[in-house]
Amino acid sequence: MIALENIRKHYGATVAVDGVTLSVAAGEIFGLVGPDGAGKTTVIRMLCGILAPTGGSLSVMGAANPEAVKDQLGYVPQKFSLYGDLTVMENIRILGSLYGQGDAEIEARATAILSFTNLLPFKDRLADNLSGGMKQKLALAAGLMHKPRLYFLDEPTTGVDPVSRREFWRMLYNLNKEGTTVFVSTPYMDEAELCTRVAFMHNGRIVACDSPRGLRGSYPHKVLELATPGKNVKQLLAGSRLIDINPFGDKYHLVAADAEAAAAEVRAVLDAAGVPVVSLDEVPPTLEDVFVALASEVA
Ligand SMILES: Nc1ncnc2c1ncn2[C@@H]1O[C@H](COP(=O)(O)OP(=O)(O)OP(=O)(O)O)[C@@H](O)[C@H]1O
Ligand SMILES: [Mg+2]
Repeated sequence: MIALENIRKHYGATVAVDGVTLSVAAGEIFGLVGPDGAGKTTVIRMLCGILAPTGGSLSVMGAANPEAVKDQLGYVPQKFSLYGDLTVMENIRILGSLYGQGDAEIEARATAILSFTNLLPFKDRLADNLSGGMKQKLALAAGLMHKPRLYFLDEPTTGVDPVSRREFWRMLYNLNKEGTTVFVSTPYMDEAELCTRVAFMHNGRIVACDSPRGLRGSYPHKVLELATPGKNVKQLLAGSRLIDINPFGDKYHLVAADAEAAAAEVRAVLDAAGVPVVSLDEVPPTLEDVFVALASEVA
């Protein structure tokens, strides 16, 4: 479905994408994950044919120039702009007509898509008056008007509340079940977990690419989860043999080579400082742990 071979994109002296090679098969939900400025948007824009690569080659649905297959591609840009002074239905209609569909077809398709995205009850609401989550659903809906076989979504849920994010992903799953290949970028690790495969991007490069299970399986360390009301944990444990100490929600993830030895050392240090340990247990690494480790390796 997609093949990238040593793709590069330079903006003057800035190297936005620095030799990316990856392939995506039909039927996947492929996730591109990485911090701000990693190059995710640049990769997606090259795949959609909006940006020309500086070097390397790509193939999208068999075409070297994505422009040739653009009627089969859907794209929700990171900064989706809709017409705030038009209603939900009017926005959808305009997007339908841009793709050259007839009135009756637009109406039927728009109704089906608004129903699929749970926006039908709001079809007469001005886009400006939608909540953030609903706006993103409208972006998803708009991109579906021409029935794309390959759907690119660039951080479609950034800033959206957790309930709406879950609903949004259910929709992506349903689309995927019906045969749409999905290529999505996200800064959220829980969303990366929902992808068939994930590429982790850092400074314009792919530093790891595998299934979520494969990525977790390749993690070389042990993780201890620490719950404590203590505030200066990082400073207290700075002299220990821990490999890394990362905040994880309201807890900490302590990275160690030997879980048992590390647990004993951590308890001793915190006890000596009078800091209570509510719990300290070895836990399986999450994708977040994997990515934090990868990012510090290549930094
Ligand atoms: N038009 C441009 N001109 C110059 N530099 C650019 C341009 N577009 C992007 N860049 C730079 O290229 C790098 C990659 O940007 P890109 O937008 O692809 O990252 P991203 O992973 O999508 O980040 P974010 O998560 O913030 O959306 C950044 O350093 C960015 O500043
Ligand atoms: Mg981006």
